[in-house]
Amino acid sequence: MKILKTIDELQSIRKDITSNVGFVPTMGALHDGHISLIKKSRKENDIVIVSIFVNPTQFLAGEDLDAYPRKDAADIKICEMCKVDYLFMPEISTMYAKEEIILKAPNKSYVLEGKTRPGHFDGVLQVVLKLFGITQPTNAYFGKKDAQQLSLISQMVKDFFLPINIIACEIVRESDGLALSSRNIYLDETQRKDSLLISKSLYAAATLIAKDERDTKVIKEKINEVMKTLELEYVAIVDREFNELENIEIDNTIILVVAKFGNTRLLDNIWL
Ligand code: PAJ
Repeated sequence: MKILKTIDELQSIRKDITSNVGFVPTMGALHDGHISLIKKSRKENDIVIVSIFVNPTQFLAGEDLDAYPRKDAADIKICEMCKVDYLFMPEISTMYAKEEIILKAPNKSYVLEGKTRPGHFDGVLQVVLKLFGITQPTNAYFGKKDAQQLSLISQMVKDFFLPINIIACEIVRESDGLALSSRNIYLDETQRKDSLLISKSLYAAATLIAKDERDTKVIKEKINEVMKTLELEYVAIVDREFNELENIEIDNTIILVVAKFGNTRLLDNIWL
């Protein structure tokens, strides 16, 4: 595995690659969720590029940019074990110009995650477009865990006619159901126990749907009931385009929840 710290190095290597390139963008502190994306990319491509870049433009003022976990040494080992070909770890100063063209995510990026974090998705799209430009992947891998991010990146690829396949990857969970996240380390023991109610509420919703319940109000009530002891930020039931649904559409529904534990927000969702 080669570790590349500059855009020039990566671009000069990339121009000589003629086979399939799989790309997994991350912000590091790699866990089994990230690893599942890397493994899938390894299986499906000749060359695998992983990036680790804690992107400042997607953090709002007051968010955890400075505290965001950084584990470079462990991450490098993980990438080596996963047989990554190129690990791209650029410096912030090289990724952004002083004054540059800014991408603006569409209005649907201002609901749900974007409502709590206005501008967050502008920053995500900005950096992902840059990373796509640098790595020019055939296939790029994203987790369903960040469902709204995945949807907006898929739209960006369509809107800008980028010749890149966006591959949606399943959510990886702890054995007790908690969706893996780099932010889970912020939880204390009690919060960690309580956090199980998040996935429980989604399983309860799935059980209701399996019993033919289709009314999203009833399903939201169930989720609220299971999570009543938590600080629930939102429950949303949307189609794949992120329009709110009154009735469940099998094969076209995502149920999303966000709960707050102090300053830590935990996201989870299920795709029907
Ligand atoms: P990060 O939070 O590091 O996540 C990198 C990728 O891993 C994303 O596609 C995310 O959806 C996926 N992922 C995280 N937890 C997962 C889990 N439990 N199961 C499956 N996949 C999971 O998302 C970002 O970084 C950034 O916004 C980025 C796209 C890199 C742009 O800066």
